[in-house]
Amino acid sequence: MKFFIDTANLDEIRQARELGVLDGVTTNPSLMAREGIAGKNAIMGHYARIAEMVPGDVSAEVIATDLEGMLREAHELAEIAPNIVVKIPMIAEGLRAIKQLTAEGIKTNCTLVFSPGQALLAAKAGATYVSPFIGRLDDIATDGMQLIADIRLIYDNYGYPTQILAASIRHTMHIIESARIGADVVTTPLKPLLNLLHHPLTDRGLEKFLADYKRLNG
Ligand code: G3P
Repeated sequence: MKFFIDTANLDEIRQARELGVLDGVTTNPSLMAREGIAGKNAIMGHYARIAEMVPGDVSAEVIATDLEGMLREAHELAEIAPNIVVKIPMIAEGLRAIKQLTAEGIKTNCTLVFSPGQALLAAKAGATYVSPFIGRLDDIATDGMQLIADIRLIYDNYGYPTQILAASIRHTMHIIESARIGADVVTTPLKPLLNLLHHPLTDRGLEKFLADYKRLNG
């Protein structure tokens, strides 16, 4: 399973990278705005910095919603670095953009996916990744994890190579359940990733090991 971090904050990316288990990064316009990154040059520069920080894929999202605009932005984003993946929204024009970009060899991440039917369309268009938003479904009293399970089943039925990128992660159990179901990638904020580390029995066990060593060795 690949671990991506879902942030545009360079310090958080650095912290996740230092754990030694980080494979890539996903961003979106809201995460970029949270960092105060505005204006085309600043945005492109920020993506370039992120792409330099991790060897794996970095998702950068288009703003246009028409085919021509999406393709123009996608080409500009793909030029930034070889590990940039163009994030395209799940709309009709987006589907067409994914199909064309895939034919050109540009990697895509189909975002804002909330149903198995949308995920099936993304795979048919040839998306590299599909991003089902688990937390936002849970927020409206719908089972987000069930969506991951449905997509896994559908993709396996037909051998679609599109990678399931579990997104909108809110807590560690979203990560564990995604791994159980067989999501290819999970993209998480820093906190749930760090929380995977902790267990009280680990802390208690280590304390006792060190105390027992110290008792005899000083
Ligand atoms: O990057 C897309 C997705 O992970 C957003 O998550 O927390 O805004 O629902 P969230």
